[in-house]
Amino acid sequence: MTVEQINSQGNLRHLITLADLERHQIERIIDRASSYLTPLGHPPPRDSILKGHTVANLFFEASTRTRASFELAAKRLSADVLNLDVNMSARTKGESLLDTIYTLQAMQVDIFVVRDASTGVPVRIAKHVAPHVSVLNAGESDVSHPTQGLLDLMTVQRHKGDVGKLCIAIVGDIKHSRVARSAFEAFTKFDVGEIRFVGPVELLPEDDMTGARSFTELDDGIRDADVVMSLRIQKERFGELGEIPDPQEYFRRYGLTEDRLRVAKPDAIVMHPGPMNRGVEIEGSLADGPRSVIQEQVTNGLAVRMSVLALVYEHISANRGSPR
Ligand code: CP
Repeated sequence: MTVEQINSQGNLRHLITLADLERHQIERIIDRASSYLTPLGHPPPRDSILKGHTVANLFFEASTRTRASFELAAKRLSADVLNLDVNMSARTKGESLLDTIYTLQAMQVDIFVVRDASTGVPVRIAKHVAPHVSVLNAGESDVSHPTQGLLDLMTVQRHKGDVGKLCIAIVGDIKHSRVARSAFEAFTKFDVGEIRFVGPVELLPEDDMTGARSFTELDDGIRDADVVMSLRIQKERFGELGEIPDPQEYFRRYGLTEDRLRVAKPDAIVMHPGPMNRGVEIEGSLADGPRSVIQEQVTNGLAVRMSVLALVYEHISANRGSPR
């Protein structure tokens, strides 16, 4: 990490990774996110904090949840919102990433929300923007998805309270998953009792997330777990040499079903970041059933994105007009 995420006044400037945020800084984001929750069917929360500010969503990789929730979050905070259609942008004519950023910055964009399949893109942008401008990582390769990690932690806390004694099992393609990495970073900051990775040996991480226990048998990995998080197979990150598992065989061995969840704690919750492949990593009836908190993850995700956008306002407003 080579940019400061927290400015000299202690305010959030960029959100690139959870790895070097302190626990109290994560708590601040989640506390504010909680203030942006209203029950479904009620009017959504609104705040005018970003009135007169502009948020640009640059998604160079597909997204439903993250993109839609960042857009709604910015609008609910009264920002002007630009969703760049990257397939129709001048990048297809050879314009560089940084020239795209400089062009949008010249239109007074204050916050860039960026998703990209390559490692290092959010940091690269953050290093080149004007002093008042913020960069929020909306998913970076297989490395980092910080708002997902925050919403996952928030969802677990809202169901289980103190996470210190919990056993959390993450099942599936951990190796290629930025969701698993950011969730691991969030959970370890809050001293989760036990984190387990469960999946075929070729989809388990090598050794960059020390402290987690690895399991290759589903029943062993989810036994007595309080939280079971299912992940999809990230086919797009296998490269030419990787062998994508057969979906039916994978479901037989690692698919989460109501039946197989019997070995977890009776009150275990089931999570999935989406997008789901029903019948591959998770049974549809489990995803839709009473133990599933998958839709709550989505709701909390919008609140987390509102929180992060609102918190970078302090930095932007204090630094607008600063020389480059
Ligand atoms: N969880 C997640 O990042 O979903 P999207 O790819 O739809 O944004």
